[in-house]
Amino acid sequence: MRQSSLVVVANRLPIDDSQAPDGACEWRRSPGGLVSALHPLLRHTPATWVGWAGGTGPAPALPDVDGVRMHTVALSPEDLRDHYEGFANATLWPLYHDAVEQPQHHRRWWEAYQRVNQRFAEATAEVAEPGGVVWVQDYHLQLVPGLLRAFRPDLRIGFFLHVPFPPPELFMQLPRRAELLRGMLGADLVGFQRVQAAHNFAQLVTRVLELPATDRRIGVDDRVVRIGAFPVSIDTAEMGALAARPDVAARARRLRQDLGDPRQVILSVDRMDYTKGIEQRLKAYSELLATGDVKVRDTVLVQVAMPSRERVGQYQILRERIEREVGRINGEFGRVGEPAIHYLTQPFDRAELAALYRVADVMAVTPLRDGMNLVAKEYVAARVDDTGALLLSEFAGTAAELSQAYLVNPHDLEGLKQGLRAALRASPADVTQRMRAMRAHLHEHDIRAWARSYLRALDEGGALVGRLSSTDTNPDGVARVPRPATAPTASPATHQAGG
Ligand code: ADP
Ligand code: F6P
Repeated sequence: MRQSSLVVVANRLPIDDSQAPDGACEWRRSPGGLVSALHPLLRHTPATWVGWAGGTGPAPALPDVDGVRMHTVALSPEDLRDHYEGFANATLWPLYHDAVEQPQHHRRWWEAYQRVNQRFAEATAEVAEPGGVVWVQDYHLQLVPGLLRAFRPDLRIGFFLHVPFPPPELFMQLPRRAELLRGMLGADLVGFQRVQAAHNFAQLVTRVLELPATDRRIGVDDRVVRIGAFPVSIDTAEMGALAARPDVAARARRLRQDLGDPRQVILSVDRMDYTKGIEQRLKAYSELLATGDVKVRDTVLVQVAMPSRERVGQYQILRERIEREVGRINGEFGRVGEPAIHYLTQPFDRAELAALYRVADVMAVTPLRDGMNLVAKEYVAARVDDTGALLLSEFAGTAAELSQAYLVNPHDLEGLKQGLRAALRASPADVTQRMRAMRAHLHEHDIRAWARSYLRALDEGGALVGRLSSTDTNPDGVARVPRPATAPTASPATHQAGG
C-alpha cells in the first residue's frame, strides 16, 4: 500500500461518476462546498484522499486524479441508509442547522455511524506515512480523530467542521453527545467556520466531559487540543480567471438572450436542502410579483436547485413542495415563452456556473443557516467588472466576512422582500462600491490562505504548506479518467449528471 505524508479524509471523494455528453465515462467534480474548497487545493500534491465514491458495493480502485491518490471506502446499502442518510443527514445535519427540520434519533443509526467511522479510521491508518499529517473533514466523521489516535498515535491529526456547530441547548439533545465530543478531541486541532462555534464546543466540553477548556485550548489527558475559527474559502483567482474567459463572457451574453433579454436577472444556486431557504425566497418573490414590485418581462429569477440526499424523507418532501410552488408561480405570473422562474435541477460544469454568475445582476443567497456558503463567494469572485448585488442571509457563515452584501434575515418575509427590492433598485455606484470591497476581501482570504492558516496551526512550523498546489491547471473541474474495473453501483445518493 502506497503511503502519503498528507491524508485528507472526507465522506465524499472529489469526483462523481458521470456520463459525458458524447456518452463517454467521465468522473466529474462533485458539487458541494467541501469538494469545491479542497479539490483545487490538493491538485498535484502528493496527498491521498480517503473517501466514498458514491453508490454501494465493493470499493472501486480509482486512478489518481490530478496527481492526488484516491483511496476508496466502501459503503454497504445498510451503511448508506443508516450512516449517510441516517445519523449524518437526518440526525446531525438538522440538529447542527438550528433544528430547522426535526432531528431523528435511532440506535441503529448510531451503530452504523460508529462502524463506518471505524472503517474510515482503518483505511486512513493504512495510507498515512509514519509521522504524517491527517486532515479529517466534517460531521460524517467526528469519531475518526479519536479512533485513529488510538492506533496511530504517531500521526498529527486535524479535524475541520464545515457546517455550524450548534449551541449547547441543541447539542445536548444528542443521546451520544459525550462520544461525539470525545471523538473530535482525538485531533490536535479542531477547526470551525466561526468563532461562535469554537465557543459552543468549548462550553460543551466543559459541561459534558468536565475538561478544562477555553475558546482556544482544551486539556485532554496529557495533551492540549487547540481549537479555533478558520473560515473556509474558494479559489478566488480560479473563478475570476474562468469568468473573464472570452468564451464564458460570450456564454453569459447568450444566456441573457435566451432568458429574453430582461432588464434584471436574479440568480440562486443551491443544493436542494431545507437549510437553504429556497421556499422562503420563492414566497418573497411571488409576493413581489403579486404586488407588481417585480414584473415578469422586466425581471427573471433563475433558480438552480441541485437534488441532494434524495432518499431522505425530508429532502423528498422539500423537492415536492418547491416544485409545486415553482409550478404555481409560473402558472400564475408567467406568460407564454416568459416564465417567472427558470428552474434547473442539473449539475453544471464550472464554466457554465461562471457564465451564470456573470449574467446575474442580483445573486440571492438566503439560507436559514449555513456553515459558510461558497456560492456567495463564487459569485463575488466571478464579478470581474465589479458589478452585481449580493443578497445574503445573516445566517450564512459568509455574512461575517462579506458584510458589504445586502444582508437579510430570511425568516422575516417582509425583510426578505425589502432586501430583494433594495438589491434590484440599488444605484450602480452603491453596487460597485460594495462589490469592490467584497472582492478585495476574497482576494486576500482565498482557499490557499485558509489552508495555510489551518495547516500552519496544525503542523506548528508549516512545512506542509509548501506542498500545496499553487496553480490550477484544470479549472473546469472535469477529470477524464478511465472507468475503474469495478464501477460503483449507481445510487440515488450520488449526484447524477443530466438531472
Ligand atoms: P453546500 O456545501 O451546502 O452544498 P456551498 O454553497 O458551500 O453549499 O457549496 C456548494 C458548491 O456546489 C459550490 O461550489 C457550487 O458551485 C457547487 N454547486 C452547486 N450547485 C451546483 C450545480 N447544479 N452544478 C455544479 N455545481 C454546483
Ligand atoms: O457542507 C456540508 C456538506 O455535507 C459537505 O460535506 C458537502 O460538500 C456538501 O454538504 C454536499 O453534501 P453531500 O456530500 O451529502 O452530497
